[in-house]
Amino acid sequence: MGTKSSNKKLRKANQAKKDEFYTQLVDIENELKHYKDQFRGKVIFCNCDDPYISNFFHYFAYNFETLRLKKLITTCYKNKQYDLFSENKDEEAVYLEYTGDKNGDRVPNPDEIGVKLLKGDGDFRSAECLKLIKEADIIVTNPPFSLFREYVAQLIEHDKKFLIIGNKNAITYKEIFKLIKENKLWAGYRSFAGGMWFYTNDDSQDYDRIVDGRKLKNVPSIWFTNIDTTKRHEDLVLYKKYSPEAYRKYYNYDAIDVSKVSEIPMNYGGAIGVPITFLDKYNPKQFEIIGLGISNSGKEVGVKPYKKEHKKYRKEIQKRGAVDGDLYMITNGIVDVPYARVLIKNKKVKK
Ligand SMILES: C[S@@+](CC[C@H](N)C(=O)[O-])C[C@H]1O[C@@H](n2cnc3c(N)ncnc32)[C@H](O)[C@@H]1O
Repeated sequence: MGTKSSNKKLRKANQAKKDEFYTQLVDIENELKHYKDQFRGKVIFCNCDDPYISNFFHYFAYNFETLRLKKLITTCYKNKQYDLFSENKDEEAVYLEYTGDKNGDRVPNPDEIGVKLLKGDGDFRSAECLKLIKEADIIVTNPPFSLFREYVAQLIEHDKKFLIIGNKNAITYKEIFKLIKENKLWAGYRSFAGGMWFYTNDDSQDYDRIVDGRKLKNVPSIWFTNIDTTKRHEDLVLYKKYSPEAYRKYYNYDAIDVSKVSEIPMNYGGAIGVPITFLDKYNPKQFEIIGLGISNSGKEVGVKPYKKEHKKYRKEIQKRGAVDGDLYMITNGIVDVPYARVLIKNKKVKK
């Protein structure tokens, strides 16, 4: 019993430690510059952000007047539960409200920023943080990845506008994909190519490079939002023509497989399987999303877009033979399993 519970504690501690990486100011600036009009007059809430280190706080506080914000609220999480690895054991969870420059220097001075103690630990699900969610117009942050599903569900439940960072992988979560399909959530401006570089804790062993003495980790991340973007109204320019020779069909589902988004044929009206990077170019007026890999029975399936999982899945199918729920092709008698596929239909088919 003892070992089981300490294993569980260790697992949670490891998970919590993986949530500890911090967004660079340049990444925040590059994305948020596109939403200036939508921020005007709004109450912004960063609910997973230590105001002493968060670049989200920094960005909004220093651009408060330029963006003409109404209020900036920030809460910081004090991780009491997983104190095995927690850094600031003695500090309390804090909460902060900033309503703009008072002394005319257009800089957020310490006496203008009211840092108050929270009663609880600052968990985004706690009653006091939920009260702040209700007050806010737009939630902007990089939330803990291990709680991403729950985090997004809470925003949807409270019908809030949001702009958050998440792992690309989250697209294949059933709950998140459903929201994408229903046009309740989409990708921000940042391209899907490459990952984002985040600061890690100074003592972390999990990093990819050191720049100016700070450790950075590359994580395959994108922005998720439900704030309108110009990008999702732009048509993807299609130049390829369909022919049965050029495009393979799945063996167990009536759709063609297109492994490069740019090669979606302009004149094909049926279902098309495309990589999840398609969502970087998705305009709901041009395409309809049918599902995330669908079998004949209509059951949703998907392969995570990582080599390890993909290889495992391919081997599994070759060994056991395909079953309902697999999406695959047969090339020269060999089972060929695509990476995760989003199934779409072109709404503007050209003859
Ligand atoms: C990926 S980090 C990002 C931090 C900051 N938003 C940034 O981008 O620099 C996620 C943050 O959420 C905090 N966190 C973890 N669990 C939380 C919870 N239940 N409620 C609120 N914050 C939480 C972590 O301590 C961590 O600082």
